Amino acid sequence: MDHYAVLVFPDQVIDDEQQYAFSTHFGPMETATGDLIAQNDRRLSMNINDISNLDKNGQVLARDDRTRLFGLANMLWHSDSSFKSTPAKFSLLSGRVVPDAGGNTEFADMRAAWDALDSDTQQKCLPLLCEHSQIYSRGKLGFDEFTEEEREKWKPVLQRLVRRHPRTDRLSLYLSSHAGTIQGWPIPEARMFLLDLLEHATQPRFVYEHQWQQWDLVMWDNRVLTHRARRYDYDKPRDLHRTTVSDSAPTLEQPL
Ligand code: OGA
Ligand code: MN
Repeated sequence: MDHYAVLVFPDQVIDDEQQYAFSTHFGPMETATGDLIAQNDRRLSMNINDISNLDKNGQVLARDDRTRLFGLANMLWHSDSSFKSTPAKFSLLSGRVVPDAGGNTEFADMRAAWDALDSDTQQKCLPLLCEHSQIYSRGKLGFDEFTEEEREKWKPVLQRLVRRHPRTDRLSLYLSSHAGTIQGWPIPEARMFLLDLLEHATQPRFVYEHQWQQWDLVMWDNRVLTHRARRYDYDKPRDLHRTTVSDSAPTLEQPL
């Protein structure tokens, strides 16, 4: 994980309990409080993030279903749970049903992206703090109908724009669709700056594209990668189950 930051284990025929048990070896676990769906209507337990287009009965969600439209933001480059003050460390994603075509997952290496920045831009980035919220990421797709309760639950949190990995000491950009502004900056200037960085950081030379086979288990380090889902036919089932290991502290409390 320290070296590659994303690992693929093919042919892992596991259930949710086994996936969870394996994941607990890597740190404290998150629960799926970032999911939209109410606890009672969930298909999966709160220990599992439901990365599918299915309802409780295993049927493909209607095209205009709110949960589906919310989930489309997974196709924006993001780092898991950057909208939580203590974000995700590792995510482990198990391919249970995968479409024949499309639906790949891409991972971009934010350490390589940092190393390739000019030093003026690096200096500019180093002290910056960003405000992250699921309201921002969904808003980028025009999804803006949130209840008061959801707005309260997903109030913006501050994250460093640059992070240092505690084991490798390498610096990396912390870019995520959830970032809606930079503290102290006018919003359009902040968003333009972040878009510019993202364009730099997601050049093909920094990206691994994973083409799913059923029973692949893919594990990645959210501290140093940004990732996104790619498009697939919305009426074809796609069912991935994610367990999420949380980081040790908010990024502001981690030494740079
Ligand atoms: C995730 C995620 C991408 C995909 O599970 O966190 O962003 O391809 N998945 O479904
Ligand atoms: Mn994700």
